[in-house]
Amino acid sequence: MKLGVFDSGLGGLLIAKSIRARLPDMDMLYYGDTLHLPYGNRSGEAIYEYSRRAMEFLFEQDCRLVITACNTVSASALRRLQQEYLPSSPWPERRILGVVVPTLEEALEKGCKKIGLLGTHYTVTSNVYKHELQKLDPGIEIAQNAAPLLVPMIENDGIQWIDPVLRHYLKPLLDAKSECLILGCTHYSLLKSQITAIAGQKILLISQDEIIPAKLNDYLNRHSEIANDIKRGGQTRFLVSDLTDNYLASAKNLYGNEIKIEKI
Ligand code: DGL
Repeated sequence: MKLGVFDSGLGGLLIAKSIRARLPDMDMLYYGDTLHLPYGNRSGEAIYEYSRRAMEFLFEQDCRLVITACNTVSASALRRLQQEYLPSSPWPERRILGVVVPTLEEALEKGCKKIGLLGTHYTVTSNVYKHELQKLDPGIEIAQNAAPLLVPMIENDGIQWIDPVLRHYLKPLLDAKSECLILGCTHYSLLKSQITAIAGQKILLISQDEIIPAKLNDYLNRHSEIANDIKRGGQTRFLVSDLTDNYLASAKNLYGNEIKIEKI
């Protein structure tokens, strides 16, 4: 069996790359639902339906466990996928994990008392980070801001024009004196240097490509019944629901020219 990594688009490739570095021998299947990107500006019902179909596909491809690297899916659909879809599916013993709680745990472990969150429109308006933080530690403040233009700019080769847009989105989080900044969208990990240039070195960036692999490793250590089912052949397959020249060029930037992406 395999480890599945799911995202709506490009950012998840970075998470998959960092998971691969941490778990070099696990067979991994990446699926990006690029046909329906961006998820972050869609309705909850649409996001649930797209991600449910993605889970079905990944489980049919023999994934034992799927990481939904996408924050928007973790915010909107994860609980329903875990509690409604999975138990009634043909694979009730498979597992789906999200990224919101592990990300907040990291911010708390780092001692942040004032958290800033940058996310997609859906992630921010769902207030999922606020609600989960309330459960973990109600004494911690969180300021959040939606950045709906960032994903389309990143996906369409627009990083060279991103500076003023990023300044606009970061301003309320910096005005709130955030001590750390959660990059609450897979794509934003690609903007770390631009964000640091605006926010300064003092603010701690919580970037999921740096934390999810270790959290996943912990999870697998605690669940040997899952870890033991995943084959250790070190293979990676990349599948997408739509393949554009732009996407391929960005993927090659991340992985090198040898990356093979299959459109399904
Ligand atoms: N990958 C999504 C996330 O992490 C953002 C991209 C999208 O809007 O589809 O929220």
